[in-house]
Amino acid sequence: MKVTVIGTGYVGLVTGACLSEMGNHVLCLDVDEHKIAILNSGGIPIHEPGLEPMVKRNAVAGRLQFTTDIAAAVHHGTLLFIGVGTPPDEDGSADLQYVLSAARNIGQHMTDYKVIVDKSTVPVGTADRVRAAVQEALAKRGLSMEFAVVSNPEFLKEGAAVDDFMRPDRIIVGADDERATLLMRAIYAPFSRNRDKLLLMDTRSAELTKYAANAMLATRISFMNELARLAECVGADIELVRHGIGSDPRIGTRFLYAGTGYGGSCFPKDVKALVRTGQEFGIDLRVLAAVEAVNDIQKRVLVDKVLARFEGNLQGRSFALWGLAFKPDTDDMRDAPSRVIVHELLRLGATIRAYDPVAMDEARRVFGDLPGLSLASHPAEALQDADALLIATEWREFKSPDFEQIRVLLKQPLIFDGRNLFDPVLVRSLGIEYHGVGRGEGVRQTRTDNVASGA
Ligand SMILES: NC(=O)c1ccc[n+]([C@@H]2O[C@H](COP(=O)([O-])OP(=O)(O)OC[C@H]3O[C@@H](n4cnc5c(N)ncnc54)[C@H](O)[C@@H]3O)[C@@H](O)[C@H]2O)c1
Repeated sequence: MKVTVIGTGYVGLVTGACLSEMGNHVLCLDVDEHKIAILNSGGIPIHEPGLEPMVKRNAVAGRLQFTTDIAAAVHHGTLLFIGVGTPPDEDGSADLQYVLSAARNIGQHMTDYKVIVDKSTVPVGTADRVRAAVQEALAKRGLSMEFAVVSNPEFLKEGAAVDDFMRPDRIIVGADDERATLLMRAIYAPFSRNRDKLLLMDTRSAELTKYAANAMLATRISFMNELARLAECVGADIELVRHGIGSDPRIGTRFLYAGTGYGGSCFPKDVKALVRTGQEFGIDLRVLAAVEAVNDIQKRVLVDKVLARFEGNLQGRSFALWGLAFKPDTDDMRDAPSRVIVHELLRLGATIRAYDPVAMDEARRVFGDLPGLSLASHPAEALQDADALLIATEWREFKSPDFEQIRVLLKQPLIFDGRNLFDPVLVRSLGIEYHGVGRGEGVRQTRTDNVASGA
């Protein structure tokens, strides 16, 4: 099939690469000329395991191409996937300007039947708005043409995106047009061979399904983070509690990790957007408002622990920070807890030397020349003469570190582990002071304002 993917970011590039891998002819469009130039010169603008060889293989075979030419891109595909960004607007609602601009572009250039597939995460009712935008652009040309708008939210996880796309749990298709449904079944048939994974529904239910999934996962994380705070106060270990409840099949083991809060390009903005949708319809989504509030507090958890440990004064202190990406196996730092940690520690007068296995370029872009922050080229370099090590991302290479090296290189042997990577008993037996999240003993969590006011 001939497919166009509009928006060549984390979702668009993975979608384009995986569809071309199955033999389709895919043209990826982006308005970012720099991104397209990188792709056309054989490079890849993001870090995503397994993506680079797949892109190269299919580009060489002529099945995967990249362009900034809107008209050519619209002409190319019968299926046009929209995978552009939907960042939060000032009021928290999803900003649809990129989606609607893509829709108008389609209406301005289409000359035959198209299936327009909303793959971006978009609020309920967006398929109708896309349809209207295309219709309006066609009307301006004095044309009326048949087309369908389908909702096909994406569930891939950054860090495992290729795998998720190639072996999806489910494929949600919201469609009310028989011809479009047949084409969607055909394009996804190779990804659905061992069992039928395609769940067909109306567009509004499909749109809501995506938000419901992310909201549920974010809720689990905030729930555990809140319990972790309680665990510290009552002398329980949240890791034991996690095992204890996760073994119940009604609960399951995933997304139950206490830590420094959720980040990334999806959960924060999607929870906000769903709360906003509720407000528009007069429904107060109280659980989700609490999920967001708990997460805002949790992103500060390491800063609060550090402050408490240093008696409220971080002037002149220096810290090693391991992990900048919002989660492992990605270079994405959108809404990453590390950003809050960096800005807060610097604001409180400390300096930071940070290291991340793949997000260093992104860190340079995000932080620029931030006074007090330097980037280390390897983990040990970050440790040298720091007052403590802070861990914000659970990269594999941090999971079994050289504790002796940590002990020797730090000014004092002190770890604040925001991802509960280590066994507190083991680390302490090595002569290292250890503070995890929700691990029963250790420093009680004290809010900055309490420390500042002496409360
Ligand atoms: N990143 C994820 O893990 C993930 C997972 C599932 C769903 N989503 C959703 O998918 C959508 C895209 O997310 P992303 O992380 O890939 O975003 P991204 O920012 O990485 O990529 C979006 C791309 O769209 C391009 N773009 C913007 N307007 C355009 C236009 N009119 N025509 C062509 N290109 C245009 C941008 O230049 C950018 O390269 C969002 O709605 C997001 O919520 C993301």
